[in-house]
Amino acid sequence: MTTVRPDTLQPDTLHPDALASGTIESEVRSYCRAFPTTFVSARGSELFDHTGRRYLDFLAGCSALNYGHNDPDMAGALVDHLTTGGITHGLDLRTEAKERLLDRFDQVVLRPRGLGYRVQFTGPTGTNAVEAAIKLARKVTGRSTVVAFTNGFHGVTLGALAATGNSHNRAGAGALPLSGVARAFYDGYLGPDVDTAAVLEAVLDDPSSGFDPPAAFLLEVVQGEGGLNPASTAWLRRIAALAQRVGALLIVDDIQAGCGRTGPFFSFEGTGVVPDLVTLSKSISGFGLPMALVLVRPELDQWSPGEHNGTFRGNNLAFVTAAVALDKFWSDGRLTADVDRRARFVRSTLESLAALGPGWRVKGRGLMVGLDVGTSGAAAAVSAGCFQQGVIIETAGPRDEVVKVLAPLTTPDAQLAEGMAIVADVVRSVAAGPHAEVAA
Ligand SMILES: Cc1ncc(COP(=O)(O)O)c(C=O)c1O
Repeated sequence: MTTVRPDTLQPDTLHPDALASGTIESEVRSYCRAFPTTFVSARGSELFDHTGRRYLDFLAGCSALNYGHNDPDMAGALVDHLTTGGITHGLDLRTEAKERLLDRFDQVVLRPRGLGYRVQFTGPTGTNAVEAAIKLARKVTGRSTVVAFTNGFHGVTLGALAATGNSHNRAGAGALPLSGVARAFYDGYLGPDVDTAAVLEAVLDDPSSGFDPPAAFLLEVVQGEGGLNPASTAWLRRIAALAQRVGALLIVDDIQAGCGRTGPFFSFEGTGVVPDLVTLSKSISGFGLPMALVLVRPELDQWSPGEHNGTFRGNNLAFVTAAVALDKFWSDGRLTADVDRRARFVRSTLESLAALGPGWRVKGRGLMVGLDVGTSGAAAAVSAGCFQQGVIIETAGPRDEVVKVLAPLTTPDAQLAEGMAIVADVVRSVAAGPHAEVAA
């Protein structure tokens, strides 16, 4: 159980002005710029900084902490594992922790949903799972082009970055061409009256369109970094059917939207679409520990041993907490029901705020929901104002114009109400200030 440790606080050495992160940490650091304090401890949906100040964490490790910080059952299992000499690093050796996790994943997640996937452990980041999925799709189909969608975000290593739309991230590749990807329009990108699945179908059916037959379609069911854009079930079904017809694999990147963020365990549940490959990371360990995997239809599991390897595919500490998380949160439908209830509350609060600004609107699904306030200036002002009032909340979207509520799924209703009241106050003051005029 986490406790706040005031006895260890060192306000002088931990003051932002005195920190090494301001001097020797690379310029690439980002979140710590938006939330300039030094965090010391955390519990559930609360974070505490070096002055003992409490914050509500509505960023939740960008969805890596769906069950909050330091869940006591996961912490207990981790401590037991460590104090009994359990394996911490195991390459991809068979270990007790891995066996247990695979068993729980099969029993609690796959079988109840009628899914027969194999589980490929990749390097422990989302982007490495995406690399593995697109490599496998290319290997299996013998084709090279991956169709990725406008506003998609899939990571920043070169293969995944080629599929990522964001120009700021893409610029990080320097002069190297980001190749092997054809860009298609995501659902709704061309407005409500254009069926972008039909557009993709038209170009893939036209032998003179210039589109090579693709190895895969890679998509998020709800785009996270791209601004909380949900795909409709009809669009997803059409895309899945098209993939099958043209011999491309359907890869669903569930790294941010999975593990209950939209309600069910997988974001595609209930759509009737069963992807060929699924990437998972972020909250799969349940505890914020690094872990990533690809779910692979068995007949597509055409890797030869070690072909996509990586030293840290066997983070046994993550396996320990992941197994506890699955048993604790996914053995019944309670968490999904909680997410649905909490999501209704957050959405209705945001909807009442959307009326305050010109063109402001609520976006997203489940507890992956936010308020588009039109400009990055307004969204940044909301984020900064919330931080001053004790709520950590980030922005997303092509121009960082969406205030994104990513509270842990387990946030107690009272804390959710407390945090949303602060968000509402700050949004009201931003709506009344200069940023609203910029948006207009
Ligand atoms: C949908 C999606 N895919 C891939 C990634 C990349 O994951 P990571 O940052 O762990 O490499 C992210 C990260 O935000 C993501 O949201």
